[in-house]
Amino acid sequence: MEKKTKVSLSGIQPSGKITLGNYLGSIKNWVDIQDSDAFDNRYCIADLHSITVWQDPESLRDQTYQLFAQLLAAGLDPEKCILFVQSHNPSHPKLSWILSCFTMFGELSRMTQFKDKSQRHSDNVNAGLFTYPVLMAADILIYDADIVPVGEDQRQHVELARDIAIRFNNRFPGSFVVPEAYIPKEGAKIMSLQDPSRKMSKSDSNDNAYILVMDSPDDILRKFKRAVTDSDSRVIVSEDKPGVTNLIHIYSAVTGKSLAEVEAEFEGKGYGVFKPAVAEAVIELLRPLREKSLELLRDKAYLDDVMAIGAEKARAITEAKVREIYEKVGFVLSKAK
Ligand code: TYM
Repeated sequence: MEKKTKVSLSGIQPSGKITLGNYLGSIKNWVDIQDSDAFDNRYCIADLHSITVWQDPESLRDQTYQLFAQLLAAGLDPEKCILFVQSHNPSHPKLSWILSCFTMFGELSRMTQFKDKSQRHSDNVNAGLFTYPVLMAADILIYDADIVPVGEDQRQHVELARDIAIRFNNRFPGSFVVPEAYIPKEGAKIMSLQDPSRKMSKSDSNDNAYILVMDSPDDILRKFKRAVTDSDSRVIVSEDKPGVTNLIHIYSAVTGKSLAEVEAEFEGKGYGVFKPAVAEAVIELLRPLREKSLELLRDKAYLDDVMAIGAEKARAITEAKVREIYEKVGFVLSKAK
C-alpha cells in the first residue's frame, strides 16, 4: 500500500436538515482541513446510512441535493476535495460485506447509537441499523483515511473502524491504514437549546431545540432568546449551568475565542446581552452559507455534474482497493468487463 499524502475522510447523513451541531462538529472542520492543504480530502453524503430508519423517498432525494448544495456553500471545493454521494460508489457496500465478516456481533451490540436508535425506532430495528457501523468502517478504510473529522457522538464508531482495521491487518498485513477520530476542541458536542442534557439533533420533536443551517435570521434570534438557561444570569462555564455553558461553547466555536475570553467579554452583562450576541454571531456565520446554497439549488444540473465528478474520482480510488482486498481474502478476480 503506497500513499503519499495523508487522507481526511468523513460523511454526513441526508436524513433531515443539517443543524448548527452538524456544522460546528464536522462540516466546519472539513473545510478548515481542506483549506490547510495538509490532507487529501474525501467527504460523502451518507445516503446508504439514512435508510436504516424510514425515509420518504422524495424527501430523501430532495435532502440529498440540499445537503450537497450546503456542503458546497460551506466551502467544500470540488477542485480541492472529492465530494460525492455514497450510493454513487458501489465499492462501499462491497467492502462493507467483507468487513462484516471481521466484525463481532458483541461489538455491534455495544454501540450506543444502535441502542439509542433501536429504542427510538422500536418498530423498525432492522439489520442495517445494527450493521451500520460496519458500512461506516468501510467508508473510512476504503480510502485509507488517516483522520476522520467527526463530532463526539461518532467517536465510538471510529474506534470500531480502528478495531476492524487492526483485526483485518493482523490476518492480512498492511491492508488498511488505522484511522484516528479528529474531534474539534470546541463544537464537538453542541447540546439542545431546550434540554442541554441532550445533544442538538435534527430529530428532536421540538424545533426550538435546534438551529438549522438554513434557518432565517429571525428564527435564529428567537431560538437563542428562548434557549433554556438558569436562574442566575452570570455568563460562566459551570457544571450546574449546562444551558449557558452550551451557549458559551457555541459562541467560542463560532468566534474562535477561548472560553475564558468569552466569560470575560460578558462579565457583569447578563443573558439579556449574551443571548442576542450568540444569535448575532451564528446569524453572520450562517448567512453566506444559506444564501449561497439557495443560489446553488436553483441549478440542479450543475449539482448533478459536480456529483458525477465526485463519484468518478471516488470510484477510481476504491475500485482498485476493493480488488486488492478481494485478492487478499481469496476471491477469483473476474475478467468480466
Ligand atoms: P450524522 O449525519 O449524524 O452527523 C454528521 C456529523 O455531525 C456531527 N454532529 C454533531 N457535532 C456536534 N454537536 C452535535 N450536536 C452534533 N450532531 C451531529 C456528527 O458527529 C458527525 O460528524 N454515521 C455518520 C455519517 C458517516 C460517517 C462516515 C462519518 C457515514 N460514513 C464515515 C465519518 C466517516 C452520521 O450518522 O453522522
